[in-house]
Amino acid sequence: SVKNYILAIESSCDDTGASVILDNKILSNVVASQKIHELYGGVVPELASRAHQQNIVPVVDQALKQANINKAELKAIAYTRGPGLMGSLLVGGSFAKSLSQSLDIPLIEVNHMQGHILANFIEDANADKPTFPFICLTVSGGHTQIVKINDYFDMEILGETIDDAAGEAFDKAGKILNLPYPAGPIIDKKSKIGNPTRFKFTKPRVDGLNFSFSGLKTAILYFIQKETKLNPNFIEENIDDLCASIQHTIVNILMDKLKQASDQTGIKQIAIAGGVSANSEIRARLKEGEEKFGWKAFIPKFEYTTDNAAMIAIVGQLKYERELFADKTAKSVAKYHI
Ligand code: KG4
Ligand code: ZN
Repeated sequence: SVKNYILAIESSCDDTGASVILDNKILSNVVASQKIHELYGGVVPELASRAHQQNIVPVVDQALKQANINKAELKAIAYTRGPGLMGSLLVGGSFAKSLSQSLDIPLIEVNHMQGHILANFIEDANADKPTFPFICLTVSGGHTQIVKINDYFDMEILGETIDDAAGEAFDKAGKILNLPYPAGPIIDKKSKIGNPTRFKFTKPRVDGLNFSFSGLKTAILYFIQKETKLNPNFIEENIDDLCASIQHTIVNILMDKLKQASDQTGIKQIAIAGGVSANSEIRARLKEGEEKFGWKAFIPKFEYTTDNAAMIAIVGQLKYERELFADKTAKSVAKYHI
């Protein structure tokens, strides 16, 4: 029988990923994360592109090897067209395009944000699969969106951030607290022993289902500057409570809008994607929503929530089945609407 192996490539930000999929099953999901950015406290676009160029061939080789297939067996190449950092996108895009040309197989363009959402449909992503329509909160270092998914390729953005992403809010708060980048997981850990209601930060007022996190960062900065003037050891002495209070504020902002989206649409199937979905308070609050609001929550396996190529592969497969192929002039785009 014909086996429709599809290779997917992800290079939108600072992770170089390659994955092979066959009939909803991920056969390999290789990610090379770029450590270099830790030194700079954030992703440096120029360095990201260079690292992608170095990593792309070994990562693809490894993905094929782990899937136990060779290039000649591939039926299509899927790649992240956008949104993301232009230099990073160009590396994966050019590589995918060349490979599809040399193998003479179709090229498939994938929207990275659709990838995050449709990762829920990977066979081993979660026990149950959402049914349409459902709502997805995509939260990572680069994005914060609430999307209504009517069908695989019929999505509506209900709300999104007007400035920083939720993960960025964690990371920037961490920088103020002298925590290493990325601070999200560290803040999560320290929050477990801290008091979430000790310090209060005013919530931003943003219309509808949109988000804003830049004001919170400024509020934290001013507060810390004021307190360390009085006590130079303020951060060290209060780090757990600071982390817990900041996390609680960010999670409250996310959950309030998610609840609003659910009430407004009457949709109770709620999925979550992106690196921030690893956060334990968000996970607990989603579970709580199952009891309090009758929600059904979908949280894909961790390896499918952070940037990865498996999520690009599932979209690639869904597009392959629908023969939604790119043409020879396909190009990467930094801004790409869902
Ligand atoms: O999806 P991701 O790996 O990469 C992109 O940004 O696309 O997400 C990384 C973001 C970082 O901002 C990181 O601090 C945050 O996810 N993050 C967390 C946690 N784990 C990762 N934020 C809060 N709590 C966590 N446990
Ligand atoms: Zn992402």
